[in-house]
Amino acid sequence: MTESLEALPRLEQEARERILGATSLAELRAAEHDVLAKRSPLALLNASLGSLPPEARKDAGQAINGARARVRATFEERQRTLELEDRRARLGAERLDLTELIDPMVRGHLHPSTQARHELEDVFVAMGYTVAEGPEAETDWYNFEALNMPPDHPARSMWDTFYLKAGEPGSVLLRTHTSPVQIRVMQSQPPPIYSVMPGRCYRRDTPDARHLAVFHQIEGLVVDHGISFADLAGTIESFTTAYFGPGIHSRLRPSYFPFTEPSAEFEVTCIFCHGAGCRTCSQTGWIELGGCGMVHPNVFKAVGVDSEEYTGFAFGFGIDRLDMMKRGVDDLRHYLTNDIRFLRQF
Ligand code: FA5
Repeated sequence: MTESLEALPRLEQEARERILGATSLAELRAAEHDVLAKRSPLALLNASLGSLPPEARKDAGQAINGARARVRATFEERQRTLELEDRRARLGAERLDLTELIDPMVRGHLHPSTQARHELEDVFVAMGYTVAEGPEAETDWYNFEALNMPPDHPARSMWDTFYLKAGEPGSVLLRTHTSPVQIRVMQSQPPPIYSVMPGRCYRRDTPDARHLAVFHQIEGLVVDHGISFADLAGTIESFTTAYFGPGIHSRLRPSYFPFTEPSAEFEVTCIFCHGAGCRTCSQTGWIELGGCGMVHPNVFKAVGVDSEEYTGFAFGFGIDRLDMMKRGVDDLRHYLTNDIRFLRQF
């Protein structure tokens, strides 16, 4: 219903109170619609102008417009205030507390096998050895033939592996041991050679507590004038006490490898029972670490080293196996499962 012009001051007052009573931007928008829109009581007052004498219409029109302008100004002022409060509230909620204490960032560490490899390198470098590396994808010649295992040699079956689709069928494979690096080192430099060669190896072994299909070995090679089996035994013993500590010793037992003659397995005092005999060492007091022997003359022949002038010894053992023993880990498969709870212990 349209009010008469006398209601103007009251309508203006009510409109301003409605606007000032809004406590949020949503309420303010509703108030704007009620008191300032086209069909609001103040706007409808214009309809009453027609009933006034023409000379009074101008003043009345100006009075209505003035009232509506003041209500709009009140609205805009209230809008600014509410927007400011709104922004303050949002900033308060999103504020970053720069004094908050956050846990320090956790840095990872090297895998236990890599740590073991570094320690072994350190021990041998301290004994005057250099460190060499070779490729993991090898040719049949380096992995077998140059190591005195011609095609169809029965010993090849001890080192069954994965063959790659490269070159002649059956000519490129994933190396089964680090021994081919001996060949590469002897090809790259003349004696004297005092070198260790760590790296990853592959075998078609079914994983179990002591075997993986991907594992690490470290190879040793010494070639010089007058090197004897006694030098080999002494070197293994020095390494064993340097790596495991003074109470742990080594022994050699006859064995067979096509690339060494004579050959031996080397064993160290069981680090769990210190030689007394326990389950881990099958009550023997000794744990086998790897193979060794005097470099076979046929190996020297393959690389053009004169076996009348030089002699040498070589050894090779599993890095993961060694580390597992040193840390008392009961299953080699832990090294590959990437379980952070296992890795964090070391
Ligand atoms: C060899 O691989 C010879 N090349 C070692 C050698 C070098 C002899 C120089 C003479 C002169 P063997 O196959 O025994 O030998 O392996 C040596 C060591 O590698 C083992 O004693 C063991 O510690 C480790 N090893 C072998 N197979 C695995 C496997 N599947 N998983 C983990 N470690 C292995």
